[in-house]
Amino acid sequence: MVLDNQPVLKVNNLVVRYGEGCPHCQENLEKNRCKLCGSVWACNDISLEVYPGEVLGIVGESGSGKSTLMKSIYFDIETTDGDAYLMEYHDGEKNIWESSASQQRLIRNNIMGMVYQNPLLGLRMDYSSASNIAEKIIAAGSRNAGQMTERAEELLNAVEILTSRMNEAPKNFSGGMQQRVQISKALANNPAILLLDEVTTGLDLSVQAKVLDLIRKIKAKYGISILLVSHDLAVIRMLADRTVVMLDGKIIESGLTDQILEDPQHAYTQQLVHSLI
Ligand SMILES: Nc1ncnc2c1ncn2[C@@H]1O[C@H](COP(=O)(O)OP(=O)(O)OP(=O)(O)O)[C@@H](O)[C@H]1O
Ligand SMILES: [Mg+2]
Ligand SMILES: [Zn+2]
Repeated sequence: MVLDNQPVLKVNNLVVRYGEGCPHCQENLEKNRCKLCGSVWACNDISLEVYPGEVLGIVGESGSGKSTLMKSIYFDIETTDGDAYLMEYHDGEKNIWESSASQQRLIRNNIMGMVYQNPLLGLRMDYSSASNIAEKIIAAGSRNAGQMTERAEELLNAVEILTSRMNEAPKNFSGGMQQRVQISKALANNPAILLLDEVTTGLDLSVQAKVLDLIRKIKAKYGISILLVSHDLAVIRMLADRTVVMLDGKIIESGLTDQILEDPQHAYTQQLVHSLI
């Protein structure tokens, strides 16, 4: 795979600390927690790049900081340190974490799409699926009802939900269908990058396989860049071109997914890979 030079998303030295911190945290960490002051360093100097059209996988055990990373990028939580750039925002020359609240809304609505592990965070369960999608389109400034319905139909088609069900509320849908509505909503405004946090966790294996297959199709159809978080290396293996392995808020290994699977360097990654076979 040929990588374009300019990344769609670039994160430099992200730090997210819960708690006040003390001058001696870094020498006194037990996992991600300072033994002296109790602060948690959920992301502790994370840097990564996502290139056009690629799927970057993030794998790591529970508590390693994956969701914190995703929520930081999507402005759901405040960062402690670091900077981040999007190719579509001032040509990647302005730190998105220093932009104003209204600029951040603009970025969320036009440049990024987010699918949460918990569909309750990403969907209004009582609104119809079509309204969920329309809400996202309206947030980006569109007002044309006819166009919106057409777009909702197109998106629901893309995620293989019958348009005859577009007026039903997601609360009546199965878990797998809810994730597909979330994906269609996240795609509504043609974002440059899709953020997927444990999209298939908690779903039955057969449903999981369908959602993963759908993500593969979306990647092929839209050529969109994807940041894919999972604690499950099997999911990462299926979809990610490159992979980053996180442990205790740090990146311990990164590279082409095939390479990591064939020749893992870090003891933790070796254990992950061996448990896969
Ligand atoms: N609001 C908070 N206050 C304090 N600590 C927090 C808070 N949110 C998360 N943490 C801690 O930050 C660390 C990273 O959590 P995070 O949710 O990012 O992990 P994760 O890799 O997504 O885990 P999982 O695979 O279970 O989803 C954990 O130690 C967690 O306990
Ligand atoms: Mg998580
Ligand atoms: Zn400390």
